[in-house]
Amino acid sequence: MKLTIEDVRSRFIKHFDGSTGSVYASPGRINLIGEHTDYNGGFVFPGAVDKGMIAEIKPNGTNKVRAYSIDLKDLVEFDLDDPKGPSASWARYIYGICQEMKARGVEVKGFNTAFAGDVPLGAGMSSSAALESCYAFALNDLFGDNKVEKFELAKAGQATEHKYVGVNCGIMDQFASVFGKKGHLIRLDCRSLEYEYFPFDPKGYKLVLVNSCVKHELASSAYNDRRRSCENVVAHIAAKHAGVETLRDADWAMLEEVKDEVPQEDYNCAKYVIGEKDRVLAVCDALKAGDYETVGQKMYETHEGLSKDYLVSCPELDYLNDIARECGVTGSRVMGGGFGGCTINLVEEALAQPFIDTVKAKYKEKFGKEPLIYNVVIGDGSRKLL
Ligand code: GLA
Repeated sequence: MKLTIEDVRSRFIKHFDGSTGSVYASPGRINLIGEHTDYNGGFVFPGAVDKGMIAEIKPNGTNKVRAYSIDLKDLVEFDLDDPKGPSASWARYIYGICQEMKARGVEVKGFNTAFAGDVPLGAGMSSSAALESCYAFALNDLFGDNKVEKFELAKAGQATEHKYVGVNCGIMDQFASVFGKKGHLIRLDCRSLEYEYFPFDPKGYKLVLVNSCVKHELASSAYNDRRRSCENVVAHIAAKHAGVETLRDADWAMLEEVKDEVPQEDYNCAKYVIGEKDRVLAVCDALKAGDYETVGQKMYETHEGLSKDYLVSCPELDYLNDIARECGVTGSRVMGGGFGGCTINLVEEALAQPFIDTVKAKYKEKFGKEPLIYNVVIGDGSRKLL
């Protein structure tokens, strides 16, 4: 069910002093192509979705934050000056954003807040980035006269992941959440931070997410391991080629030069990333030409790389990808960090319902549970609602 302002407001009133505050929203995201490229200085091609987080916030005249998670029915209070912060993982996102916005010159004061989300958790749709961006945007508005620019809001979210959550993520998720625009995907160059909006209205096609409902426990440490593998290859290449700072600066010849110096799994990761860099650009060209067959083919290639070289798929996601192929879906791949979550599928309109019916039945037969299906609607980024 679609989350509404009323859902949040009624709980805010109930759990605090009866008064109302300001209301903000920030979305989750999809990513058409460009996976695990952001922290390698490459390109990504995300868009915000019409699902995300809604938070109501009101300054409370103290130095304490009182936060209520409507979905978890959990209230946490922390002092803004407490160097440790709360232990509840959801509250650490809010605490981290408070610290990061203070570091960017915003005089954050205590506040009461209640929030809820309708972007599925652990589905690779960036529910955590939606939460971070929502509070970064809100604190900037409430306490900072909106003086912190949008990129810094995204970076505050990313820094929160690094310092307070322990995930060494790239900038894609927070960027998409803050910069999202209805009906548009955004190509971001994660090295220069230049970006371009692409109208996305694939005539005759739909984007469908299939949620495997697998949540991977070890996702954050495995994610950090992949990043380390890439950085190891870069260190070896940089020793021979001055100026190479990320895999974005590397090419196939450079990778082959260091092949025998690095572990096989690091080599495989770098191989995937260098290929993915080219695939994003190919997809942009294909989109401009209305060539969805090529877009889809690149998506399948990405899945192959993520599954066989980057090792961030799992049997459930590979199976979803196989079924998509069997059903004649134009493109399909694991989306986001991986280790569980969703596949993103580009499918001809006429094939969408038969594909959904087949994937539900076959997945249930093999894994004993039905996958969840979401039709993608590209929505707006962080904003004030009330
Ligand atoms: C997660 C991270 C992003 C990005 C993707 C993979 O969503 O938060 O920064 O690295 O994985 O593309």
